[in-house]
Amino acid sequence: MCGIVGYIGNKPGRDIVLEGLEALEYRGYDSAGIALVDGGQSQCLKKIGRVTGLVGEAKKISSNAGLVIGHTRWATHGGVTNQNAHPQTSNDGTIFVVHNGIIENFAELKTKLEAAGYHFDSQTDTEVVPNLIDYYLKQTSDFEKAFKSALNDVRGAYAIAAISTKAPDKLFAARLSSPLVIGVGKNEHILASDPSAIMEHTKKVIYLEDYDMAVITGSKVKIHNLKDGKPVKPEAELLDFESEKALLGDYPNFMLKEIFEAPATIKTATLGRVNAAANTVKLGGLENVLRQLNHVERVVIVACGTASYAGLIGEYLIEELAGIPVEVQLAHEFKYRDEPFSRSTVLLAISQSGETADTIAALKKVEDFGVLRLGIVNAVGSTIARMTDAGVYCHAGPERAVASTKAFVAQVTVLMLIALHLSGGNSKRFSPLLKELEGLPSKAQAVLDQAETIKQIAEKYAGFNDFMFIGRKYGYPMALEGALKLKETSYIHAEGCAGGELKHGSLAMIDQNFPTFAFATESPLLDKISSNIQEVRARGGPVVAVATEGNTSIKDIADDVIYLPKTLEETQPILAAIAAQLFAYYIATKRGLDVDRPRNLAKSVTVE
Ligand code: F6R
Repeated sequence: MCGIVGYIGNKPGRDIVLEGLEALEYRGYDSAGIALVDGGQSQCLKKIGRVTGLVGEAKKISSNAGLVIGHTRWATHGGVTNQNAHPQTSNDGTIFVVHNGIIENFAELKTKLEAAGYHFDSQTDTEVVPNLIDYYLKQTSDFEKAFKSALNDVRGAYAIAAISTKAPDKLFAARLSSPLVIGVGKNEHILASDPSAIMEHTKKVIYLEDYDMAVITGSKVKIHNLKDGKPVKPEAELLDFESEKALLGDYPNFMLKEIFEAPATIKTATLGRVNAAANTVKLGGLENVLRQLNHVERVVIVACGTASYAGLIGEYLIEELAGIPVEVQLAHEFKYRDEPFSRSTVLLAISQSGETADTIAALKKVEDFGVLRLGIVNAVGSTIARMTDAGVYCHAGPERAVASTKAFVAQVTVLMLIALHLSGGNSKRFSPLLKELEGLPSKAQAVLDQAETIKQIAEKYAGFNDFMFIGRKYGYPMALEGALKLKETSYIHAEGCAGGELKHGSLAMIDQNFPTFAFATESPLLDKISSNIQEVRARGGPVVAVATEGNTSIKDIADDVIYLPKTLEETQPILAAIAAQLFAYYIATKRGLDVDRPRNLAKSVTVE
């Protein structure tokens, strides 16, 4: 993961880089650091913890330098220490490197450099890079050549930026499998892991592609391909989203704000796409591939975490509404499976950030198979959005809290639209669902209106150490997602289990100290999930049930009930998600935890 920022130009670069790091903090917040070169002088500052800590300290270093790099870290190689924070520096203190990714052959490179007399102060994989540049610089005396030679030695994934007192008027950058974008300003360039760190300054950007190496000055960007050595013409494009700084407003944190954005999220995801009166679903993003979509025989969904649980709901939706077989695979597993793949298969990647390395790797795996690659992505212009043949944007707006909430709501909504679209209007559920989708934002609002009740219920359970989540059919992915939300925000051990699976093993754990959260909304399987609740109760396990309003008998078998408005079976997961998100949120805040930045995690997982 990690976020990197670089600045070269005639403005004071320090604060531009620090602001950029704040915008990228979702990528990791174990430590942060900054280095600058001002003529022949350099300064470097690193600090464990959030970027705000670094901002305070950074007053000590020059604000005027026009060549600056910065980094916010999610630790992979080496613990969370000052030594392991970036920028990493060459032994002689003249070369500074920030890196996002993993250098797989760093041990080998380290041995080579140690043999040449270099020493290493950190446990990071990155530290080999500045020293490797120095190693080649001693041979060529040309920084650009040395940077290139160093990168040619490196295997793995990287977005790298380097500065040096030995090349005080250039910013060097390169990318392979980790995103990097250059913002083009007036006599200045800003380099960053994604446009959110840039868009306050310019909307004109150049996306670097794999193997691109860039040499950047205030007025010029020179790119060439590291593989074939050929020059690449920098193509600048305009960011097509508004510079939207996700402001907290009156909310105490982004997680709550984003949960409360559910009604607007459903509205924007369906806006201009669903027309119940005309009985149509229009997905502009799929228009160019309609012919291929007519011949789809199988859909493979690849995603990770929450996005994969949205995918599981999509599996049921596409199969039931469009009659096309669907399989959901975790992207990191998919990559290493050797399975038959025909051209009539569509690969559908789901990703909020559009930068998840595992999902990118899954898409790359089928690059030469001739299959159609589609995306359901939230971050506009992200790597996945750009590498897929077509797709449907979630349009949920930036999601800042690490735990995904509104993006899940948007992903499920978009999957429903895709399922309806693929059904060609032939499903008898088509018209009722279109109608229901139009009224769904106000039902989502009705769930949010119960936040206080959900809070009171959640706080009763905040002291437990274990939680079981159960559900059937659409409730099953919801159980997985509900458990994940609780785990990542409150650090409570939680398991998601299909209701029918409980008695095949997991039920053994249930006792009075192991409560269950049951998705028991109106459906043909309500009796079955009610039986599962009874099984839990018979073992003394407390139960919180999510049920449909009007179901009074659920109160006889559950200790606490969260009621959802009546909706169709297919749209229930969207409303249930909001209830589960609020439940996790209130438990985590009751436990005094930082819900926006849970420990050990980062918003965008850009390493495999
Ligand atoms: C959990 C969560 C993660 C992400 C996963 C995929 O709340 O946010 O499980 O869903 O890391 O990320 P994206 O959707 O960005 O590919």
